[in-house]
Amino acid sequence: MFRKLTHRVFRDPIHGYINIHEQVIWDCINSKEFQRLRRIKQLGASHQVYQTAEHSRFSHSLGVYEITRRMFEEVKGLADLVTNYDQTVTLLAALLHDLGHGPFSHTFESVSRIDHEKYTELIILGDTEINAILSAIDTRLPHQVASIINHSHPNKILTQLVSSQLDADRMDYLLRDAYFTGTSYGSFDLNRLIRTMRVSGERLVIKESGIHAVEDYIMARYHMYWNVYFHATSRAYEAVLYALFRRLDDLKESDLLDKYPRLKTFLVEEVPRVESLLALDEAVMIYYFSEMQSSEDPILRDLSTRLLNRQLFAYEDIEDDVIEAEVIKMLEANNLDPRYYLAKDTLGQTPYHPYEKETSMLIYIIGRDQEVKELSEVSEIVAAISAGKEKKESKIFYPKIKKVGAYE
Ligand code: NI
Repeated sequence: MFRKLTHRVFRDPIHGYINIHEQVIWDCINSKEFQRLRRIKQLGASHQVYQTAEHSRFSHSLGVYEITRRMFEEVKGLADLVTNYDQTVTLLAALLHDLGHGPFSHTFESVSRIDHEKYTELIILGDTEINAILSAIDTRLPHQVASIINHSHPNKILTQLVSSQLDADRMDYLLRDAYFTGTSYGSFDLNRLIRTMRVSGERLVIKESGIHAVEDYIMARYHMYWNVYFHATSRAYEAVLYALFRRLDDLKESDLLDKYPRLKTFLVEEVPRVESLLALDEAVMIYYFSEMQSSEDPILRDLSTRLLNRQLFAYEDIEDDVIEAEVIKMLEANNLDPRYYLAKDTLGQTPYHPYEKETSMLIYIIGRDQEVKELSEVSEIVAAISAGKEKKESKIFYPKIKKVGAYE
């Protein structure tokens, strides 16, 4: 059903090579919706801290595809259990799972009204090149691919491979983000993990002898969150970006936005169309930000200038409302509207959730006696970090001002 292709490869610093064997995969990579991912960074704000973290969703998506492909090739018993057709459907889901990201992914979702998972589905099912490529093979194919991404596919092993607590997506982004940030926290033994994977009944499991590799992977995730994804300086950049998006959204009916037509179209649509999302990427946005530096609106002018020149907001930890009240007073004394010049966030992260309702999300260990147990029942380390109090952190962000009392 799927036409074979003379073996093609992409070089990749994480996997060595990305191996392509099927025409449909190659065609999807060459579609305009997939090529757009070259213009969206994997880590929207982290390059403000780790300046080499400029890698794109394009390279991450290829990586998720490659890990999934290796699992079908190397995990004992897996390929026997899944038809060739379903293997390719799963590879397509792995490749296409991030198609719906907007520029600056998560911050952008504050004005997008539809999350990136839903957009991914709409792109696969809508009037797009990707949809035409898939439908030409079988009219049911777009739905089958989308159903793996949105967890409605009846074969749970397939969703487990692409989207669970031990999936190809997380494995690729941890390794890739660690590599491109130049940190070592995210590394773990991918080869060992794949080598110790097995199939038991309807699910993927890890052999007892692979438990240290799993623990390492869970800890890698924990450290990457606190050192990279939640880094206070990236959050300070996101706070400026968020404020700028909020100002743009507040001005969406105004003529001031006529200079940024793609953005205006997206913001004024009640439910932004897929075409409007696809017309936006980080190259377009950065150009618009640069134009906004001469906007007639002083807030757009100020926030875009801050963003491009990395004049980020200052931040501090908060435990109560006292600091916030002081900051508001200080902002008002300086004619700065707290709607745009004050941001708060609270972040928390548990690296592994043993109580997920959807059992295909969990990690299972198979013992020598063939008994299958959920990871936290077997690993003391994972039990301890899952049962402990969730680490939480609240911060407040606002511009540095050199005049007022406490902030001199
Ligand atoms: Ni992803």
